[in-house]
Amino acid sequence: MNEIAPMEQFSEKPVVEACARAPVGLLAELTHRCPLQCPYCSNPLELDRVNSELTTEQWQDVMRQAADLGILQIHLSGGEPTVRKDLEDIVEVAAKVGLYTNLITAGVTLTRDRLKRLKELGLDHVQLSIQDVDDVNAEKISAYKNGLAKKREVGKWVREFDMPLTINAPIHRLNIENLPNIIEFAVEMGAGRIEVANIQYYAWALKNRAALMPTRAQVLKSAEIVEAAKERLKGVMVFDFVVPDYYAKTPKPCMGGWGRGVMNVTPQGRVLPCHASESVPGLVFDNVKDRPLADIWLNGQAFQKYRGTSWMKEPCRSCPRAEIDFGGCRCQAMAFTGDAANTDPACKLSPHHGAFVAAAEQESAEQTPPPFVYRRMAPAKAPAAE
Ligand code: SF4
Ligand code: FES
Repeated sequence: MNEIAPMEQFSEKPVVEACARAPVGLLAELTHRCPLQCPYCSNPLELDRVNSELTTEQWQDVMRQAADLGILQIHLSGGEPTVRKDLEDIVEVAAKVGLYTNLITAGVTLTRDRLKRLKELGLDHVQLSIQDVDDVNAEKISAYKNGLAKKREVGKWVREFDMPLTINAPIHRLNIENLPNIIEFAVEMGAGRIEVANIQYYAWALKNRAALMPTRAQVLKSAEIVEAAKERLKGVMVFDFVVPDYYAKTPKPCMGGWGRGVMNVTPQGRVLPCHASESVPGLVFDNVKDRPLADIWLNGQAFQKYRGTSWMKEPCRSCPRAEIDFGGCRCQAMAFTGDAANTDPACKLSPHHGAFVAAAEQESAEQTPPPFVYRRMAPAKAPAAE
């Protein structure tokens, strides 16, 4: 096991403001491999290849270091985490060191025996993603045949093994009209929680924004549907409603504030403040192969860069919400305004807000949206000539 030295030992300068002693959660992207090709995937456009992934031992060490650091929850994600044959070995160690383990899966590669084994080894929770509850539409969105039938089976097994189930439903213009049926599907599956997650436009989703953006009227109606269902299903199912940024007036405190509560480890071992942060230039991402996780969390350049509020420019700097939303999302500010230190354009006080809203309104009004750019691994580059 990796010994974690006391925090003071790492730091030459004082740690900046607003750094919690430990993140609550760690998102472990075990692999970027996935049989599905959803056009809103949060993985980067340049996906990590299988031969560069951390080994079993390295992931097990990440689990031990996470527990030592005081992290409570591990979200085992991808790509599709079940394509890793050593998932059991990673779950076993995570459970042994006392982490709450959540498997985030599309379900299509899971078998009943494997899920049973994972439960025996200590897996605590399953989060099953769905594309739609209409077979044809689900297939169109994921570019994967018969996925929905498989997901129904997986949902049943999760409940058979008495594990808590969350249904994760990314919502966009292709499935927003089916929201009532998606909620019913989650109830039928016996889910205790549903995430109605309006697409957040980074990475693949940003590339496909014009194909995915719903209209403002659709979004308002979906919020009403969720409110009514929340009331009707009190005590049955909990709702997480991820609001769509483009129609908001104030931004979300993305990641609960940069470097405040969560960290993300990529398949290759790079440690990120959020899944999209590789799109922000000028950040240095440490790797778990080179530096202890605790040191990266407290002192890593990428974590320090936008932690707290001292990096802010106006209008955030003097805004009473600065400590509430932390200026919104750095990655969205970068993508839309070209500077990650700018106010998130989702904020009505941002000088870019008008253009941000106009883009959504214009794209969602298009009668014929552009075709999807499906999430695919880029062809391997040819070796450079000598
Ligand atoms: Fe939040 Fe900045 Fe907008 Fe104020 S100006 S509400 S801190 S994003
Ligand atoms: Fe990176 Fe919001 S997605 S800060």
